[in-house]
Amino acid sequence: MARLIGCVTTSHVPAIGRAIDKGLQEEPYWKPFFDGFKPVHRWLDRARPDVAVVFYNDHGLNFFLDKLPTFAIGAASQYVSADEGWNIPTVAPFTGDPDLSWHIINSVVAADFDITTCQEMVVDHAVCNPMALLWPGCGADGERPWPVRIVPVEINTVQFPLPSAARCYQLGEAVGRAIACYPRDLRVLVMGTGGLSHQLDGERAGFINKEFDREFMASLTADPAWATKYSTVELVEKTGSQGVELIIWLAARAALGGGAREVTASYHIPISNTAAGIMLLEPAS
Ligand code: DHB
Ligand code: FE
Repeated sequence: MARLIGCVTTSHVPAIGRAIDKGLQEEPYWKPFFDGFKPVHRWLDRARPDVAVVFYNDHGLNFFLDKLPTFAIGAASQYVSADEGWNIPTVAPFTGDPDLSWHIINSVVAADFDITTCQEMVVDHAVCNPMALLWPGCGADGERPWPVRIVPVEINTVQFPLPSAARCYQLGEAVGRAIACYPRDLRVLVMGTGGLSHQLDGERAGFINKEFDREFMASLTADPAWATKYSTVELVEKTGSQGVELIIWLAARAALGGGAREVTASYHIPISNTAAGIMLLEPAS
């Protein structure tokens, strides 16, 4: 049977892709952020996942405002990396796992989630940067291939109405249940990308809420459904109009299920306009 081995959540700021391309990891601006991944790398070396189920939000690359599903799951055999306009380098394509994708799709539709299925899907910085952060030296031309296959699970955090935090949590639980009953011997990592607090435009551009971010991060081990009590508007007020991406962390955490133990966490302000958070959780038992 497939086994959920852990959950990594991280910010996905586009500038990370440029910093990796230019080798700026040791520069004073970037070092505290990149250092936060060192314990994650050590854990991945031991944990050796086969597949990553990546909860993320598309930023106008695969979907645009004219047609924007609330939830979409990839069922492609390959996902090509592309840039929707940040001028960041692309990375090597990711290999998919269509059989696991369809298993998850069938399971969540049977659980009454009306999702969009994507047999073709291009992925933006919200998939590519977290993958490059977790597996440095992989994926770029001439380097090592990505060591995991991926299943992208896309959540709309771009155009209102957004799914509620509570609904994202339920979707995560349904995806987690699907993985847990998948009858192939796979080690599955769950990833959630986006957040934490940030606002890119408007009167509150540059808004960051350290107290809320910290409370949210602590809740993911102590009381994982804590943030589901907030409405979308409340979350935008507390975290900024792009900080609401943290509902994706909630979905990923819910997929892990049950109790969780924090392996490592780091929080650094700012990376670009964003409060950059990283967490790695393992199942408690
Ligand atoms: C930034 C953060 C994001 O999450 C994003 O999607 C784009 C830009 C930023 O802080 O620059
Ligand atoms: Fe984003």
